[in-house]
Amino acid sequence: MGDPNASDWLKSQQKASRKARWLVGILGLVVLLALHKSLYGINYGPVNATYPWCTNTLGDVIEDIKLLSQLTNRIRLYGMDCQMANMTLWAIKLLNVNMTVIPTIWVDNNATTYQRQYNSLFTLINDHGVDKIDGISVGNEVLFRKEITPQDLFNRIADVRQKVNALPNVKKKVPVFTSDLGSNVNDALVAAVDIALANVHPYFGGVPAQQGANWTFEFFQQNDVVVAAKAGKEAIISEIGWPTAGNSQQAAVASVPNLNDFIQSFICAANTKQVKYYYFESFDTPWKTAMFTLLEGSWGLFTPDRKLKDVTIPDCPPTAPGFNGFS
Ligand SMILES: *[C@@H]1O[C@H](CO)[C@@H](O)[C@H](O)[C@H]1NC(C)=O
Ligand SMILES: *[C@@H]1O[C@H](CO)[C@@H](O)[C@H](O)[C@H]1NC(C)=O
Ligand SMILES: *[C@@H]1O[C@H](CO)[C@@H](O)[C@H](O)[C@H]1NC(C)=O
Ligand SMILES: *[C@@H]1O[C@H](CO)[C@@H](O)[C@H](O)[C@H]1NC(C)=O
Repeated sequence: MGDPNASDWLKSQQKASRKARWLVGILGLVVLLALHKSLYGINYGPVNATYPWCTNTLGDVIEDIKLLSQLTNRIRLYGMDCQMANMTLWAIKLLNVNMTVIPTIWVDNNATTYQRQYNSLFTLINDHGVDKIDGISVGNEVLFRKEITPQDLFNRIADVRQKVNALPNVKKKVPVFTSDLGSNVNDALVAAVDIALANVHPYFGGVPAQQGANWTFEFFQQNDVVVAAKAGKEAIISEIGWPTAGNSQQAAVASVPNLNDFIQSFICAANTKQVKYYYFESFDTPWKTAMFTLLEGSWGLFTPDRKLKDVTIPDCPPTAPGFNGFS
């Protein structure tokens, strides 16, 4: 830039590129106006972070967090591999945005995977402390997949809770839990966790998008809130969303207009009721489409190139506090 030897041609190119930057700036502003910090939390997985093919970059995570920080103050992650929690916390720090994270140790039936992610969690806490960590999840939908026994899972949760809360740089009580299908929340699970995290999916309930919010509030109340409350604990929706492509489930149809209808009826109603939820999910995931189905890969509010789908984000800030009894 500003090279004194630049030819007229080069100068005109630079003028054009300045114009382009102006345009990018204006378009960026349009995106900003379309986003509102109305979500209690959101689920996020960085692109290309599939172990052992970790080609994800901090630059990409920063671009993602720029968007997500305009939607919510809270992020939930799915694993420790590929530096995904470390990069997320670094992006939050570098952008200086007010966001907190739930890191997750991914649990399957592979002891090597567990040990690697377990070690990464302790490195993360050693490097970042827990100021920006709301809680720690040990596994997601492990009971549903039946990869290890419930008792094995509960023992791991207890182990992580004890070790994390004994660290010298941990000055607050960090809640430790797992997340599983809302229908898997029972007394034994509730006894093992500090908070009951339930994945609640009206889509798999087979209801039309327009009834998805009502279905969710009723299902969550009956299957999760009352079960957790018996033990004096709180329940949180760890996944809630609507897909835009893939096979229908009875009356539930995947489409962008249905996603829009669902978020119009769910987000502000949930915020008014002070239901705590992590929206599922941030971006479409082509790797899940390739590995599983189109339906699995199509739950993003944004496309993989960070464009908001043709939906309106409602403007109604959540007022529910952080996790009860923890700060
Ligand atoms: C965490 O990410 C930062 C920024 O990319 C990097 O410098 C650091 O080495 C990472 N930490 C670990 C343990 O890899
Ligand atoms: C940061 O976010 C938390 C949780 O939403 C909120 O309670 C707090 O007021 C925010 N802090 C600032 C400085 O905005
Ligand atoms: C467990 O995962 C490691 C790599 O993370 C792999 O090398 C090993 O083969 C896996 N073990 C089983 C039993 O699948
Ligand atoms: C949702 O529930 C409310 C109150 O329970 C009711 O008034 C409304 O009609 C329901 N909406 C749908 C689409 O079922």
